[in-house]
Amino acid sequence: MTRYAKPLVVFYSHSGHTRDVAERFVRLSGADRRQLSPARYDIPVLWTVQAMFDAVTGAEPPLPNLGLGLAGERRWVVVAGPVWAGRLAAPLRPVLRALRPVDVPVGLLLTCGSPKGAPGAIRSAERVLDRPFAATAFVANGEPASDDTDGLNGFLARLDEARSLVLL
Ligand SMILES: Cc1cc2nc3c(=O)[nH]c(=O)nc-3n(C[C@H](O)[C@H](O)[C@H](O)COP(=O)(O)O)c2cc1C
Repeated sequence: MTRYAKPLVVFYSHSGHTRDVAERFVRLSGADRRQLSPARYDIPVLWTVQAMFDAVTGAEPPLPNLGLGLAGERRWVVVAGPVWAGRLAAPLRPVLRALRPVDVPVGLLLTCGSPKGAPGAIRSAERVLDRPFAATAFVANGEPASDDTDGLNGFLARLDEARSLVLL
């Protein structure tokens, strides 16, 4: 049976919500974690204008070297970040593009102000990845108690199943 390298969670978080959810999921899954911290959004207050502009125009910060070339050896990769203007936050788009040619199940874990924002952001992120996600989940602000791992458990089960289906 094929032994895969540890799964990977790549996340971006400006105000900490995604970081909390992503770290909970890292603890649950035993995955490695990589946090993106682009300087582009360091400007106090005005960063939201930059974020909205990037979300709407498709502009994005460059992708730092995350070793994603080896992502095909991982059991799965999860991309986690907030919804901005109805889309996945700009820093994560180049991650999805880098994963396009890689044969690995990719999951999307979103945080959002309102659950209504999630389905459109999932669809637009799938267009960047150029294939359906193996699993998706979203957590709206103020939604999860830290001991409520039901949604994350289901998300993890779908990801693990995606790789074993490939093996059968
Ligand atoms: C610039 C900007 C645009 C946003 N646009 C949306 C949106 O369209 N829909 C939504 O549900 N939430 C939106 N939000 C709310 C964030 O998705 C939400 O607060 C998220 O939990 C923030 O994650 P973070 O703390 O990891 O940065 C937006 C937030 C910002 C800063």
